[in-house]
Amino acid sequence: MEHRYGAHNYHPLPVVLCKGEGAFVWDVEGKRYFDFLSAYSAVNQGHCHPKIVKALCDQAHTLTLTSRAFFNDCLGPYEKYITEYFGYDKVLPMNTGAEADETALKLARRWGYRVKGIKENEALIICCEGNFHGRTISIVSMSTDPDSYGEFGPFTPGFVKIPYNDVDALEKVLEQHGKRVAGFLVEPIQGEAGVFVPDEGYLKKCYDLCKKHNVLFMADEVQTGIARTGKMLACDHEGVRPDILILGKAVSGGVLPISAVLADDPIMLTIGPGEHGSTFGGFCLAGKVAVAALQVVKEEGLAEKAEKLGRIFREEMLKVKSDMIELVRGKGLLNAIVIRPKNGKEAWDVCLKMKELGVLAKPTHQHIIRFAPPLVITEEQLREAIELIKKAILSFE
Ligand SMILES: Cc1ncc(COP(=O)(O)O)c(C=O)c1O
Repeated sequence: MEHRYGAHNYHPLPVVLCKGEGAFVWDVEGKRYFDFLSAYSAVNQGHCHPKIVKALCDQAHTLTLTSRAFFNDCLGPYEKYITEYFGYDKVLPMNTGAEADETALKLARRWGYRVKGIKENEALIICCEGNFHGRTISIVSMSTDPDSYGEFGPFTPGFVKIPYNDVDALEKVLEQHGKRVAGFLVEPIQGEAGVFVPDEGYLKKCYDLCKKHNVLFMADEVQTGIARTGKMLACDHEGVRPDILILGKAVSGGVLPISAVLADDPIMLTIGPGEHGSTFGGFCLAGKVAVAALQVVKEEGLAEKAEKLGRIFREEMLKVKSDMIELVRGKGLLNAIVIRPKNGKEAWDVCLKMKELGVLAKPTHQHIIRFAPPLVITEEQLREAIELIKKAILSFE
């Protein structure tokens, strides 16, 4: 039915899921799988976490949506909670990751004109090759992946693309155009590109350069944030506090589309009433769900778990004697294996084999498989899944 009635903008693995709990999902035939995608890291807290589902259901019976035309009794407490949680003056609530990135771009440009004094319509934003920030026109204007931007032009101007993990490239652009640059937008680890972990110190050096040139350091932590990489934020690994922090996905534990942009007053207050927003952004359900989901992350020590279990995952994968494994990389429980094709078999075939054995994961960019289970997975469950993944890879020997 999806093929017949839905747009063909995805190519799913052939499995039909109907139930989830913790690290597991079940298909319509009742077969159980380890979920090693976690809806692209949205389900960090595990499928149908009882505390988050309870928050959703309780509020759903009371009041769901008022729009921002009126105050409601959920948004304020949520805003207080999330700003204190991450240590910022203000939050701007949106729904999807792409919208949060769009919001960050608008904030940076506004700040550039109002605070930094860039001439109107001349602001530049620096972004990185290989980025993935979503699917809107402005966001694909930053993309260097032809699948993302091809034949979707004309594009939004004002972006300068530099190689990822290249401090010198950033320095060069800033030396040349610094006065016109409002922000530098970066993923602390490039998730969609295939879990590219930059060199240690990259983020801090970029941050310092941004400070030198009065440029906003904007971190897209939609995929890396909320404990996924072994710290609450991936930027925490280098002690960097982004000027604009962009969150999505796991803000809700995969229950609702909830995203958030966090910044301090001099940036956030450059946008006034009527100048940005969304009907659902910060709606009542979102407020309650997000507070519950963020509480779960701390209560269950998910960052520490991701750190510990991620090490086990990489250690075990490096032990596998198969020339199909070209590389194992990642941080916390955001990992990838680069697959070297063998006898015409590639990452997609490995994923099909894993599916058969009871582990779901999906290739990104043809030859890379991302492994990102819910962070609530236990060590015992992880070790069981690792054995299945090994078995799948070794089946091609
Ligand atoms: C780093 C990053 N930013 C933004 C997005 C877009 O989020 P959404 O699909 O919710 O629009 C994604 C999605 O994978 C992402 O990984």
